[in-house]
Amino acid sequence: MVGGVEERLTVGRMAEPADVTVRTLHHYDEIGLVRPSARTAAGYRVYSVGDVERLREVLAYRRLGFGPCEIADLVDDPATDAVACLRRLRGLLLEQRDRAAAMVTAIDKELEARAMGIRTTPEEQLRVFGAQLHDAIGSAHPATRRTEPRIAARVWEALGDARTVLNVGAGTGSYEPPDRDVTAVEPSAVMRAQRPAGAAPCVAAAAESRPFEDRSFDAATAFSTVHHWRDPIAGLREMRRVARRVVVFTHDAGDAGWRLRFWLTRDYLPEVAGLVADRPPVDRTARVIGSRMEPVLVPWDCADGFLEAYWRRPDAYLDERVRRAVSVWTRVGPEAERRAVNELRDDLSSGRWAERNPDLVALDAAELGLRLLVA
Ligand SMILES: C[S@@+](CC[C@H](N)C(=O)[O-])C[C@H]1O[C@@H](n2cnc3c(N)ncnc32)[C@H](O)[C@@H]1O
Repeated sequence: MVGGVEERLTVGRMAEPADVTVRTLHHYDEIGLVRPSARTAAGYRVYSVGDVERLREVLAYRRLGFGPCEIADLVDDPATDAVACLRRLRGLLLEQRDRAAAMVTAIDKELEARAMGIRTTPEEQLRVFGAQLHDAIGSAHPATRRTEPRIAARVWEALGDARTVLNVGAGTGSYEPPDRDVTAVEPSAVMRAQRPAGAAPCVAAAAESRPFEDRSFDAATAFSTVHHWRDPIAGLREMRRVARRVVVFTHDAGDAGWRLRFWLTRDYLPEVAGLVADRPPVDRTARVIGSRMEPVLVPWDCADGFLEAYWRRPDAYLDERVRRAVSVWTRVGPEAERRAVNELRDDLSSGRWAERNPDLVALDAAELGLRLLVA
């Protein structure tokens, strides 16, 4: 913590706790990455508290695999304060953890196939190492994920008279309006491959850097995807840049209220709080795109199997197919998943779940923090 750091440190005193060599610190000074703000009369480098914070940031990016030029761009970004920077780092670390989880899932699949005497192709073997979360879990998506017509109608209405629409993080295209000229953007090869025949053309790209001119679409939309983006703020700014109108369906990640209202995250999967902690609160998201915000209730018989869809149908979460189509279940890890499912199964058979949630059966729709942002 900054409060515990002495005002000024020499190279030797910086190197040891940071686990870097004095040579590295000299090198960082030479290339301008971490410059000591002062020198002693004898010419020795002296680092201030601010220099220490910068070094910590540089080292974290280095450990995440960024090169010196990328690190310089990140740490010199004038748009980020210390808190935004820590959030970004946290997001990148979670992404790395998710990628590792995706690789474990892909390797498990290959082991299973081998145990059954099925040999994977060289392409499949290589894919393990490029595995993104949705490349590992995406094949399970179509089993339960499809258009929820009542929510789709809200999104399509919000698009107004837009003729050309960019759908970012499009997945298999469940929320693409059939009567407009849609271009999809989707980084996962597995998701792209599952787009139905005749679906809108799809560009392989991520939200944060899209190969489109300013204002080249009437509208840009993103459905249930922003929480996956490495840098949601950069992605939303990109949407603003390329389109006149922006419509985003997302979660209020900053509001703990829905997690406490929703029995699944409250009583069985508290780990979800840690997964969303680095995500920008929805009002910040709304400010970035200058949007208004409307709550979207989840109907009790929601057709699209996203995390909250089965709030009145708890047995559904016992179904492996339901869980595999929602990334949260992979992201919390197998131990938390097993525990949550076992506890839920026990509570459903003992009647404890029904005792704890007596009011739900009378509700047709629930307010679980889902929001439509329209700018
Ligand atoms: C839960 S799925 C939703 C797909 C689709 N919008 C739908 O509602 O059916 C999330 C999608 O976001 C995509 N995604 C992940 N990271 C992304 C990024 N940085 N930019 C754009 N899309 C991303 C995933 O590959 C996945 O297809």
